[in-house]
Amino acid sequence: MQDRSKISSALQGLAYLLFSLSLLLVIGVLWVILAPPKAKLNEARSPQEWTPRSVELNLPKGKWGQMVKYGHDIITNTSRFIGPSAAKNKSFAGNNLSCNNCHLNAGKKIASGSFIGVYNRFPQFRGRENKIGTLEERINGCLERSMNGKKMPENTYEMKAIISYIQWLSEDLPPELEKNIKGIKK
Ligand code: HEC
Repeated sequence: MQDRSKISSALQGLAYLLFSLSLLLVIGVLWVILAPPKAKLNEARSPQEWTPRSVELNLPKGKWGQMVKYGHDIITNTSRFIGPSAAKNKSFAGNNLSCNNCHLNAGKKIASGSFIGVYNRFPQFRGRENKIGTLEERINGCLERSMNGKKMPENTYEMKAIISYIQWLSEDLPPELEKNIKGIKK
């Protein structure tokens, strides 16, 4: 008789133990599933709070920052740096427009030819020409057609600076905002 009750209380203890262990397991699994993901570097802000980077406030230090700033200056003052007012060997745009005249607010105005996110979409396949197009070619397309000028070689400091600026602007864009920002709204 005594042995039996010993066994049954031992079994009861075991059942409690198993029950608490499985409870812990469930809590652990829920924890993993429901815990908020760790914020990634550069994405500390939520999409709702996101604002484009500004050359005045967020310019990176060193050579990279200088490139980005120069790219910004070319875009807002194109004629002076790579247009009719530049030295002859640096003159590629044929008219006195700035990129900024069409890509408003240095390419930061939403849905107005914005450059934010553009870097992440290149190189891209272009069906009409049946080839992969690069960002350099796209910029040269604007220089040749929109600005009535000629191609700027890809290895010039000016081309690299424009690309750097577009890359820097594109770096911290929350992916869920991309589709609202790109293109030109009618
Ligand atoms: C006369 C207006 C005009 C000027 C000046 C101009 N562009 Fe453009 N650009 C456009 C238009 C229009 C598009 C097509 C926009 C679209 O498809 O959403 C475009 C597209 C682009 C794109 C691709 C954007 C994307 O979302 O894929 C880049 C990059 C670009 N331009 C760079 C430049 C640069 C750099 C300059 C100055 C050197 C410049 N553009 C000058 C009108 C212009």
